Amino acid sequence: MIPQSFIEELKMNSDIESVISSYVQLRKRGRISTGLCPFHSEKTGSFTVYPESQSFYCFGCGAGGDVVGFIRRIENLEYVEAIKFLAQRAGMNVPEDAAEDKTALLKTKILEMNREAARFYFSELTKPSGKAALDYLLGRGLEPKTIKHFGLGYAPNDWTRLTDLLASKGFRYEDMVAAQLSRKSEKSGRYYDVFRDRVMFPIIDLRGNVIGFGGRKMSGDGPKYYNSPDTPVFKKTKNLFALNFAKKQKLERLILCEGYMDVIAMHQAGFTEAVASLGTSLTSDQCRLASSYVDEAVLAYDSDEAGQKATKRAIGLLDEVGIRTKVLTIQDAKDPDEYIKKFGGTRFKKLIEQSAGSVEYELSKIGKKYDTETPEGKIGALKDAVGLLAEMKNPLEREVWAAKLARDYGTTKEGILTQVQTKIKRRARAEGSRAISGTAQQNTFGGAVPEKLKNPASAAAEERLLGAVLRHPETLSTLSTKVSPEDFVCELYGNFYRKLLTTLSTGFEVSLTLFGEDFTLEQQGIIAKLAHLAREHQYSAEDAFEAAKTILRLKEKKTDKEIGELSGAELAAYIEKMRKAKK
Ligand code: GTP
Ligand code: MN
Repeated sequence: MIPQSFIEELKMNSDIESVISSYVQLRKRGRISTGLCPFHSEKTGSFTVYPESQSFYCFGCGAGGDVVGFIRRIENLEYVEAIKFLAQRAGMNVPEDAAEDKTALLKTKILEMNREAARFYFSELTKPSGKAALDYLLGRGLEPKTIKHFGLGYAPNDWTRLTDLLASKGFRYEDMVAAQLSRKSEKSGRYYDVFRDRVMFPIIDLRGNVIGFGGRKMSGDGPKYYNSPDTPVFKKTKNLFALNFAKKQKLERLILCEGYMDVIAMHQAGFTEAVASLGTSLTSDQCRLASSYVDEAVLAYDSDEAGQKATKRAIGLLDEVGIRTKVLTIQDAKDPDEYIKKFGGTRFKKLIEQSAGSVEYELSKIGKKYDTETPEGKIGALKDAVGLLAEMKNPLEREVWAAKLARDYGTTKEGILTQVQTKIKRRARAEGSRAISGTAQQNTFGGAVPEKLKNPASAAAEERLLGAVLRHPETLSTLSTKVSPEDFVCELYGNFYRKLLTTLSTGFEVSLTLFGEDFTLEQQGIIAKLAHLAREHQYSAEDAFEAAKTILRLKEKKTDKEIGELSGAELAAYIEKMRKAKK
């Protein structure tokens, strides 16, 4: 735990405008500054910085928080790492307590061991015992300089070579296990190497640290690849293989593919913007990471069915973070690696240039799904296509595609657009009935504040209370005697309120920074949004007390069924209570 007093001081030394302006070009507009949001792709400046409350908020994507939250998002760091990052910028030393010291030390040790291991695996390729592995890599078309560039290697067919080497360098066995490089035998109690007889692919992060490995078997049964499980320095779902190399250039787009070998073959052929997720399907964290570098991606997944499924999924995930996608169609080869080997880099470049936008890709798939020579097939395909168009937010875009469909299927554009409108309305109704009073806010908070759906009035009051308190922290001590976190219907809001009360008792200033440690980035975005709404509606101190009353009144309000079960005296007391609460 970093002491709150240090964070307060750090905050004083890390003015949010000046920190953000190293990433975003900000324009002053009265008391606020705006710019293009670095967290999603946009042409209008929805990204707003509030110097007064030292916070930021984006209307477009809902990202928001304080300076620490900003750094976490943009640098892809954990909370403590972000604090350290800012401290370094401000020239301050982070006070570290023993426990934290220990994890920091272990992390450093793991990185050192990984580096040693990578060096060892690489050197094994040049030994007679590693000849088969070297031949394997060369046989797959890799040039020696590519092997060196990626630091590929060979884990020998032995039980303890790496473990022994690390021990001889003074590393402890427990730490080797924590690094996922060694394991302890239950039977003998001895430690042995995790990677054996595998071609090794080191995974390197953006700072140049070796954070994990992928190991490929050259023959035999069993899983083809084994990837390091997560360790204190390695989170599979948050890293992209080869992004460290890709980001060395000015990136216009990334090429996303499935495998290590695809990435390596592409880099060798000159496509150095290729990256891959690490043996898992693409995650939203990886998409967010990618979105801080590019707003376009070419999906170059395997041509098999699994690859096509993954493509579809990736389009959705990338769209969420504002990355436009194009899809590469690979024919006569199973993946980019094989394609390049068969047809060469020049043909592959053509393939990339021809890669269709995601809509075209989806439409061509719909076309293939039906026999469009028959009327039934045409109708089926058109129905699917109408569904696709109904998802487009831009009417102009819908119109362009409707015109193309009309040509392809011999019907009219107007007919298609009418269908699309009907579909959009039907969808909106379905969503409306789910989201009750359908404010935009309700939709964005849906996942994090599930109680909001059933208790919109309570949730609104809780939001108003929190917003007002953030503007008028002086109300907090009186409020604490009236309403307690347990009175809140929405758990997250109750937790926000509890956090504010704790701060009050420890005497620290109320600000969004408080929420950095105990809440996720999504939750911090919500609190930033509440602060933003409070500013916009100019919530007063009085609003906080009004909201508190509403919260209590709604809490006391019983359902019809409950009222039916009250005794006469209880009922009289209840009515009296409700009457008082209304005042
Ligand atoms: P090769 O060209 O055969 O070396 O493999 P590839 O790079 O074409 O990989 P493939 O398309 O078979 O798989 C894509 C990625 O999924 C690989 O790079 C691995 O990260 C991961 N992967 C593949 N097979 C396995 C496996 O058996 N276990 C695990 N954990 N991951 C795997
Ligand atoms: Mn392959």
